[in-house]
Amino acid sequence: MAVTMELSSILWSLFSMLIAMLLSSLIRQKKSNPPSPLPPGPKSLPFVGCIFQMLRNRPTFEWMHKIMHEMNTEIACFRLGGIHVIPVTSPEIAREFLKKQDSIFSSRPVCMSAELPSSKYLSAVLSPSGNQQKKMKKIVISSVLSPAKHRWLHGKRIKEADHLVNYILNQCNNSLTGGEVNIRIAARHYCGNVTRRMFFDKRFFGRGTEDGGPGTEEVEHVEPLFTILDHLFAFSLSDYVPWMRSFDQCCCQA
Ligand SMILES: *[C@@H]1O[C@H](CO)[C@@H](O)[C@H](O)[C@H]1NC(C)=O
Ligand SMILES: *[C@@H]1O[C@H](CO)[C@@H](O)[C@H](O)[C@H]1NC(C)=O
Repeated sequence: MAVTMELSSILWSLFSMLIAMLLSSLIRQKKSNPPSPLPPGPKSLPFVGCIFQMLRNRPTFEWMHKIMHEMNTEIACFRLGGIHVIPVTSPEIAREFLKKQDSIFSSRPVCMSAELPSSKYLSAVLSPSGNQQKKMKKIVISSVLSPAKHRWLHGKRIKEADHLVNYILNQCNNSLTGGEVNIRIAARHYCGNVTRRMFFDKRFFGRGTEDGGPGTEEVEHVEPLFTILDHLFAFSLSDYVPWMRSFDQCCCQA
C-alpha cells in the first residue's frame, strides 16, 4: 500500500513538472513573437548586402529611387554590410519618423561628410550626440545665442542690412546688367558678410575690389562654405563599411 502511494506521488510530481515545463515553453513562445518584418528591398548577398550593386550604380540615391519606383514602394530596406538603410519617399511615412517617433529615430550619426568639415567634430552644430555635444550646446545657448549677445550685435547686423539694400539698389540701377539682381549671390554674400561682421567686425578680409564688390578672399570664404553645405550628410559608403574609408575620400557624392 505504502509503495503504491509513494509511486503515485512520484508520478504525480513528474506529471505536474511536465505540465509546468509545457506551460513555460508555451509562454516563452508567445513572448518571443517573430520580429516585425522589414520593408521590401532588393536581393542582397550575405555579409556585404547590396554593396556591389550600389558601387555599380552611381549616384546611389538615384539607384535607390529607381529600385523603389520599380518595386512600387514608398519605404524600402537596403542592406549595406550589417546595416539596414531604410529610405522613405512618402511624406506621410517621413512625418512618422521625424515627428511622431522622433525620440526613437533622432540621432546625430557619425559620418565622414560631417567629420571632415568640422575638423573631427570641433563644431557644436555637426558633432554627434554625447557629453561633448551637450556641453557645447549649453555654452552656445547661454553665451553665443543669448538675447544679450543678440542685442549687442544689433548694430553690426543693421550695418550689413543697410549695405544689402544699397547693393540691390545699385544692381537695379546698373545699366550693364539691365537692372537684374542675382538674388542667390546677394543672399549668399549677405550671409557671409553678416557673419564676418559679427565675428571679425570686417566687411573685407583683403583689399576688396575697386567697385566695392567682394574680393578674392571673400569669394574664397563664401563659395567653399556653400560647397560644404551641398555635400553635408551626403551618402558615403564608408559610413556603413568603415574599412572602405580610404576608397571613399575622393568619391564622396552629394
Ligand atoms: C540711378 O540712376 C539714375 C540715372 O541713371 C540716377 O539719377 C540715380 O541717382 C541712380 N540711383 C542710385 C541710387 O544710384
Ligand atoms: C558683401 O561684402 C562684400 C565685400 O566683401 C561687398 O562687396 C558686397 O556688396 C556685400 N554684399 C552684400 C549683399 O551685402
